[in-house]
Amino acid sequence: MTNTPDIIWTPAASTEEGARNARELFTRIFGGEAEGVWRAPGRVNIIGEHVDYNGGPCLPIALPHAAYVAVRPRPDRRVRLVSPQTVDAVDELNLDTIGPAGSEGEVKGWAAYLVGVAWALEQAGYGPLTGFDIALWSCVPLGAGLSSSAALECATAVALDDLAGLGLAGTVEAPNKEGRGILVTASRRAENDIAGANTGGLDQSASMHCTHGHALVLDSRDMSVRQTPFDIAASGCELLVIDTRAPHQLVDGQYGQRRADCEAAAAILGVNLLVDVEDYEAAMTALADNAPEEDRERLQARTRHVLSEIARTKAFIDILESEPLLSEEKLQVLGGLMNDSHDSLRDDYEVTVPELDVAVDVARARGAYGARMTGGGFGGSVIALVKTEQAEEIARAVTEAFAERGFAQPHVFVATPADGAGRVE
Ligand code: GLA
Repeated sequence: MTNTPDIIWTPAASTEEGARNARELFTRIFGGEAEGVWRAPGRVNIIGEHVDYNGGPCLPIALPHAAYVAVRPRPDRRVRLVSPQTVDAVDELNLDTIGPAGSEGEVKGWAAYLVGVAWALEQAGYGPLTGFDIALWSCVPLGAGLSSSAALECATAVALDDLAGLGLAGTVEAPNKEGRGILVTASRRAENDIAGANTGGLDQSASMHCTHGHALVLDSRDMSVRQTPFDIAASGCELLVIDTRAPHQLVDGQYGQRRADCEAAAAILGVNLLVDVEDYEAAMTALADNAPEEDRERLQARTRHVLSEIARTKAFIDILESEPLLSEEKLQVLGGLMNDSHDSLRDDYEVTVPELDVAVDVARARGAYGARMTGGGFGGSVIALVKTEQAEEIARAVTEAFAERGFAQPHVFVATPADGAGRVE
């Protein structure tokens, strides 16, 4: 007999608690008061996975789980950074010497996500900025595919925007959409150029543009966004997030290989981005005829995922936008699209791991409308669309299945769409 562990629920800290934790850490380490506290959320992507760098649509919501930064500008160009994990070794950098990953100015560790934003803003002509002291506190689970790094970048971006008086973010209530687009680009460059993770723009767009009560329709071709109401609670449902705690790491090459496969397929098909492929059957034939033999099946499978995921995401968005209250039948269609998305990510895109597949299988077997991995994969989290009264039972069943298999114990919470990045106090 295995002892069944209790479910571990990991709800978000309240905004007040997050801000207080960041402020207290600031004062303890740097002395005096921070000038303000800014917050930016993690995200779950409901559907539209591994299509952002192919120009396709995505549908994220922001989580109530967020990163909080307490910041005070400095009269010089130095940056001092601290998080609860680094109180004994405060990082010190200088804005004059930081540079891209692989260069002499390379920044190691999590500091890259924060100072990288300052670097990118200056590169975009919003400088010179002053140095700053910054204390970070975050409740976005790390390495869980929930965009903990985008949350750091975007919290820093809105803080630096405010402190330098750039006026790019506007406020949470009255966001400056265009200005936020500039902050998305800066946050993304921090991740791509300074941290060296060649990701698409999904995570930063979600953290910067999402609003509570809504999902974000992101068109990755031009990074344009619109809000669509997302209130599944009104239809008696919840989005259960299961952090499998299988470690996930995007800098390790697999993500880059998937991107390279997509670029190779696009080149053979004579398009810039796979979103531009018009005829699926013709594309499969062209890859069969023209891809090198050893790559043929793989490139066909990757392309099949991207094109089918784009179609599923469009169908999902159409349903959400056509009916605010989702009927049982529509919920089943949405769940089916999520299921197909996961299966495609498992079989054609090959980015799942056993923990993700088991969580998905158990959630489906216990009556979820649909379940799929979310984020980059290779570990990370699963989301399940479930009836409200089923959430606990499904969380328990996944917890038990993981214990039986000797997997790490999953962490679970219910995702409700929260606001994007902004000033807290
Ligand atoms: C990671 C990346 C995103 C996106 C997803 C997969 O989260 O940061 O840009 O590519 O994977 O959809």
